[in-house]
Amino acid sequence: MFGKRVSETQTKKIVSSAPPISEKPTIEERTDPSIDTFLKKNQKISVTEAPRKNKKPASSKSEEYLKVKSTIFNALIDTIDLTQLVALERDIAREEISDIISEIFEIKNVVMSTTEQEELLDDICNDVLGYGPLEPLLARDDIADIMVNGANSTFIEVNGKTIKTNVHFTDNEQLMNICQRIVSQVGRRVDESSPICDARLPDGSRVNVIAPPLAIDGPSLTIRKFKKDSLTLNQLVSFGSISPEGGEILEIIGRTRCNVLVSGGTGSGKTTLLNCLSACIEKDERIITCEDSAELQMQQPHVVRLETRPANLEGEGLITMRDLVKNCLRMRPERIIVGEVRGPEAFDLLQAMNTGHDGSMGTLHANSPREAISRVESMILMGGYALPAKTIREMIVGSVDVIVQAARLRDGSRRITHIAEVIGMEGDIVTLQNIFVYEITGEDPNSGKLLGRHRSTGITRPRFFEKAEYYNQEKQLMRALAKSEVQDIDGSILGEING
Ligand SMILES: Nc1ncnc2c1ncn2[C@@H]1O[C@H](COP(=O)(O)OP(=O)(O)OP(=O)(O)O)[C@@H](O)[C@H]1O
Ligand SMILES: [Mg+2]
Repeated sequence: MFGKRVSETQTKKIVSSAPPISEKPTIEERTDPSIDTFLKKNQKISVTEAPRKNKKPASSKSEEYLKVKSTIFNALIDTIDLTQLVALERDIAREEISDIISEIFEIKNVVMSTTEQEELLDDICNDVLGYGPLEPLLARDDIADIMVNGANSTFIEVNGKTIKTNVHFTDNEQLMNICQRIVSQVGRRVDESSPICDARLPDGSRVNVIAPPLAIDGPSLTIRKFKKDSLTLNQLVSFGSISPEGGEILEIIGRTRCNVLVSGGTGSGKTTLLNCLSACIEKDERIITCEDSAELQMQQPHVVRLETRPANLEGEGLITMRDLVKNCLRMRPERIIVGEVRGPEAFDLLQAMNTGHDGSMGTLHANSPREAISRVESMILMGGYALPAKTIREMIVGSVDVIVQAARLRDGSRRITHIAEVIGMEGDIVTLQNIFVYEITGEDPNSGKLLGRHRSTGITRPRFFEKAEYYNQEKQLMRALAKSEVQDIDGSILGEING
């Protein structure tokens, strides 16, 4: 079953129909020709021939350990077909590998303590069955991103800070094999002819691979770790990403069916925020989500999750975000949630917002609410719609109620920096009004952490006040806004900061 370099019947004896451990023949008893070939190739030394005193101990993680590991690993892949081995359940596959490695130990005259053997087995199993040196990083919950830039350079993001790790791959080939394994799980291939690939790990983590020749210094792998328990609004409040009153305003925005764009830079927390906002949606609403890689974790019962599809190797079968959003409209949605708006689907989302699907939401990459507006405009123009800029802007004004801005600040902290409203047009320009902002007030000289505060801009009746009234949320809204006001030394309420 696992025959690779040897015939199927031969390998069956080695692995798949291997008897239970207790019944297994010893290495001397075996007549298996594949082992024989293997032994010849590796200068067979039988157990009896090898006097113990000649055996070399291997030191852990030293160069010698790596040498031993590489020898054992090469012997292992010469003996079995790994692609079939990985199809087995992990425990069973591990047992098989363990058996073979024990035999190889004997043949190769390697002496290792049980702990060292276990460690080596773990390492090899990680390489063969999992993601090799990435496994320990993948197992950690505190890591947000893993960024591998070739075999010798791996960075992680922890608590908003990017740190270099001491994770190394044997070489770019090992790294490429791991990339290959990851993308093959979603039926894709990454190689010189198709060097860019998006994929997802079984745990939901989002993966991008870009391989040589496009990535000059070796394969580059970027993983956005999936958090099983997505952050909640309360947690964002406890981290200081938003004040409790700001959190309440966001809840009201989510509940009262405002059309929302969440704007922010890469990794600023847009998806997390969208998830938090969507948690405020009532349980009886029909929600349709469209994503490139399903990250949103909706808690409501009536949800249809849609995911785009890249073209296959023949270049066919592409389903774009636009296809999904357009199709959504025929699915009787009450709310449409678009994971990331990055192209002409912006037009369809605005249309949906405009045509009775109030409370629709999406994220986009932009550094301020003002920039978010121009991004939407250019996404629509890039889609080939021959509409005058003013018409597009009017469409934006008629569709989007609120823009929530997320940012990752230079101290690594993530904050909600603006809650802004789209209030209308002045001439050809879309008018925005910040109702809630984050202000940096200083920096802690010891920790380097930025100091700041969230505050309202003194606006007591935002444009969505009517919606709040309609949903009986106006009192909470007024209270949260009033409580967030800050006065200057003269007692006047601090006003708006431009978005
Ligand atoms: N307010 C926050 N406080 C702490 N960690 C956060 C906060 N918001 C998000 N995170 C974490 O930051 C990481 C990135 O978050 P998220 O995926 O929401 O960002 P994003 O802006 O959608 O990224 P991308 O641009 O890659 O889509 C995640 O690990 C998430 O758990
Ligand atoms: Mg995102």
